Amino acid sequence: MGLTYDVKPDYVRKKGDPEDANAEFDHPDTIEVIKDAIESGGHKVVKIGNVRNLLRRIKSLDVDIVFNIAEGVSGRNRESEIPVILEMAGIPFVGADGLTLGLTLDKVMAKKVLIFEGVPTPAFFQISDINNVDGAGIDFPLIVKPKQEGSSKGISDKSIVHNRRDMIRQADWVIRTYKQPALVESFITGSEFTIPIIGNEKPEVLPTVQISIDGKTNLGDLCYTFSRISSNTLNYVCPARITRGLDRKIKDVALKAYKAVECRDFGRVDFRVDKRGNPYVLEINPLPSLSTEDVFMTIARQMKVSYNSIINRILDHALERYGIR
Ligand SMILES: Nc1ncnc2c1ncn2[C@@H]1O[C@H](COP(=O)(O)OP(=O)(O)O)[C@@H](O)[C@H]1O
Ligand SMILES: [Mg+2]
Repeated sequence: MGLTYDVKPDYVRKKGDPEDANAEFDHPDTIEVIKDAIESGGHKVVKIGNVRNLLRRIKSLDVDIVFNIAEGVSGRNRESEIPVILEMAGIPFVGADGLTLGLTLDKVMAKKVLIFEGVPTPAFFQISDINNVDGAGIDFPLIVKPKQEGSSKGISDKSIVHNRRDMIRQADWVIRTYKQPALVESFITGSEFTIPIIGNEKPEVLPTVQISIDGKTNLGDLCYTFSRISSNTLNYVCPARITRGLDRKIKDVALKAYKAVECRDFGRVDFRVDKRGNPYVLEINPLPSLSTEDVFMTIARQMKVSYNSIINRILDHALERYGIR
């Protein structure tokens, strides 16, 4: 098995980079944990690293499949780089292909697909130029976020805006700081959930994970921000404290979203649910974090299985998909 990844120490900070520039990258410990997990399934692991290392080694790479968790460095195709190279080289890999990764990294593109498929997602518009804003008639409060980032990059308490002046100011900051358009969405007051899914033909929806911030699951205006991730005020609650009816409803929506963008082997769908119990998909992560601090560890505990067995189940889905067994 090859293992491709981006780790925080590899990131070379450039002048003018935002403070959260390397937020998506993994901690080196995570790579060791995943390597151990794959090896516990009886496989041998070759650590490859980032896309540059892959390019250097691709001709002599002797692996049956690559477990890819690399986030890539820049642009909305960054997560697609390794999958596309592997596809060109005819090397199987775990997880979604380049098209799905690029589509979902650009939240505006993904929302267009979700809307076509009838998956609820907050009303939105895009601001590419602050001198040319139409607003699309959507009511405040709104949230202003970078169109193609992850790991809560560019999201702070200032992202929630209640008037046009603040919206333009925040959009201007996003455009200048992240060098991309701002996505402006209806802000969903209420609670937040994320649903991990694994598998292909008959994907398995894993237990719903609820987000708690400062000890509260009724989040109101609170958001999953970069500074809250760093300050440990976020917690995952599993089982989620919701009715069976709501749980079933968001799981159905999650599965529909997973299929709509053609996730493979594993993924995670993020939701906000308003006070009336209406779910909205915020985004789909075909390459969610596998860090032991993150959601997949939480659900392993809830399902009373080991973290290693979850990683191997993801891998087994990929092996089965390619008919390598
Ligand atoms: N429309 C929205 N309504 C309410 N909260 C939102 C909305 N969009 C984003 N958020 C908050 O910001 C966080 C990060 O947004 P998300 O779109 O999931 O981006 P990322 O890719 O960075 O995870 C969410 O987990 C949620 O707390
Ligand atoms: Mg998210």
